[in-house]
Amino acid sequence: MTFPLIENVAVIGAGPAGLAALYEFLHLNKDGSSTVGSNKSADPIFNVTVFEQKAVPGGIWAQTNDVDLPIPPQNILETSEYNNPDVIQINQPIPKEVIGKTYQSPYVKKLNPERQLEWTHSGVYPDLFTNVACRFTRFSYQPIEPEYWDEKRSIYPFLTQEELKSRFQTFITKENLSDYIRYNSRVQNVIKDKGKWILTIRESNEVLNRENWYQQEFDAIVVANGHYSIPNIPVIQGLAEFNKSNPGKVIHSNAYRDSKIFQGKRVLFVGGSISTANLVQYAFPLANKVVVSRRGSHKVFPWIDEALNSDGIIGKPEIQQIDHDGSVLFIDGTIESRFDLIVFTTGYHFHYPFLNDYLEVTENSNSSRVSGLYLQTFSIKDPTLALAGAVVSGINFLTIESCVAAIAGVWSGVKQLPSKEKQEDWEVERVKLRGNNLSFHHYAYETIKEDLIDPLYSYAANERANPLMEDGNFLDEVAIAGISLKKLFYNLKEERLTVSQTKGI
Ligand SMILES: Cc1cc2nc3c(=O)[nH]c(=O)nc-3n(C[C@H](O)[C@H](O)[C@H](O)COP(=O)(O)OP(=O)(O)OC[C@H]3O[C@@H](n4cnc5c(N)ncnc54)[C@H](O)[C@@H]3O)c2cc1C
Ligand SMILES: NC(=O)c1ccc[n+]([C@@H]2O[C@H](COP(=O)([O-])OP(=O)(O)OC[C@H]3O[C@@H](n4cnc5c(N)ncnc54)[C@H](OP(=O)(O)O)[C@@H]3O)[C@@H](O)[C@H]2O)c1
Repeated sequence: MTFPLIENVAVIGAGPAGLAALYEFLHLNKDGSSTVGSNKSADPIFNVTVFEQKAVPGGIWAQTNDVDLPIPPQNILETSEYNNPDVIQINQPIPKEVIGKTYQSPYVKKLNPERQLEWTHSGVYPDLFTNVACRFTRFSYQPIEPEYWDEKRSIYPFLTQEELKSRFQTFITKENLSDYIRYNSRVQNVIKDKGKWILTIRESNEVLNRENWYQQEFDAIVVANGHYSIPNIPVIQGLAEFNKSNPGKVIHSNAYRDSKIFQGKRVLFVGGSISTANLVQYAFPLANKVVVSRRGSHKVFPWIDEALNSDGIIGKPEIQQIDHDGSVLFIDGTIESRFDLIVFTTGYHFHYPFLNDYLEVTENSNSSRVSGLYLQTFSIKDPTLALAGAVVSGINFLTIESCVAAIAGVWSGVKQLPSKEKQEDWEVERVKLRGNNLSFHHYAYETIKEDLIDPLYSYAANERANPLMEDGNFLDEVAIAGISLKKLFYNLKEERLTVSQTKGI
């Protein structure tokens, strides 16, 4: 497939995926060779601009004290469409005056204070430690810090969220990545016109109380906006009414910050995955009662099913109805009376409101998939659009690295993608194999090298090392980490370990 010449590249988001893309491009030379792992290119092939809606880089790992709403406001709950990301995420309309405005000469308006429903804050809370071993929460070219390889650490082999945050901040500072990032700059819309991508950007300035709106053209775009920000809340009969008469008693895990909220309460958790197990381990020692409503078994980690059914936890199927006094009817006909707190640990939505025509999401739920991508990365419709970060695995950071390495190889012109038909065949086969849902994006660690990393690597630039060249010898650490996570769950739940002991020492 012949490829248009690419000079100007936009990256949407400065989380791990956006930072990896930026780093990759800064190490890509005009002759199509890569210097990833050593010095930056003296003459990089692309001009790269990263747009980040927040004031800081690092994505969900740049946790601040800010927090999103615990649950969408009452008027949205009353629409009964609150499982639709287009309903709960409210984007400002694009002012018509922005057309033709530039970064240097933007359209300026007063800051819109109504930005809470953009869901920009991180779901990472102060007590969180990672659920992926420390080897795999780094890119292959980042160092392995010996202090984290200490089995005496209470959370070994994991890192506290502070430690991972600092790993990223060190990387950003060392590589001077901030020089290429425009902060407080939210990409509001993207269209393709006459062969160019036109981005509409809103840059907010809290101090001056104003917003600068402008447009900028690019030849290619990496979408790296993450998919764990827009809360998925299933529509349940009676939820809106319960929230109206009991404000503050419903929360999505995205807004969880402090285990004090569980003290002495009768708590209902909805969900059966990582966030559920994670919060139950903190809630159990403090709460008066813990009930977990699940709709099936966990598709990857059997230990989670066992843990959420362990001594003292009351397991329930899906909710049929919530009464105004907090009593809940489950689909098996059983009732549990008067909950003081309902915690939705029901995941998040993939959502691309600025690019709907190109990145389609199959349904509104935590288990949807993005369609139209070759090797989870290249838009089949237009390969100058690529996504980094859609893959779900136990080695997220290395899958991100593999995606951006392939993007660099293809966009530099060194490697060619197969025909559109072959790309479509790949997607059809993957749907047949895994299903038309989140499983499409999931890869088991045992086969991820052959099924994804190596195929992506075949598109990498010249002299670029395979991201799994060294770390690939340690993939069984993914399973070992699962065993440690399970142990930590029981130790916290059964108070053999206190939360303060998990602070990385
Ligand atoms: C509570 C929680 C715990 C997790 N724990 C782990 C873990 O232990 N290990 C692990 O490997 N993974 C974990 N994850 C998954 C996590 O999302 C990844 O580790 C990683 O952050 C993904 O990086 P990303 O860059 O794709 O997304 P993000 O980190 O979400 O970054 C996306 C960035 O894009 C920006 N953005 C979004 N939209 C726009 C826009 N329109 N314009 C401009 N900027 C925009 C956002 O502000 C954000 O900075 C966890 C997720 C959650 C929610
Ligand atoms: N570092 C950490 O310790 C940590 C902590 C929290 C989260 N995370 C990460 O954050 C990401 C998101 O995890 P998550 O657990 O928030 O989301 P998730 O994995 O998408 O899980 C959502 C859960 O909610 C269930 N669910 C959805 N609708 C439901 C309904 N109507 N009734 C009952 N259950 C329902 C889902 O069931 P189905 O399976 O049937 O869809 C699933 O069990 C993951 O990458 C995870 O690793 C990490």
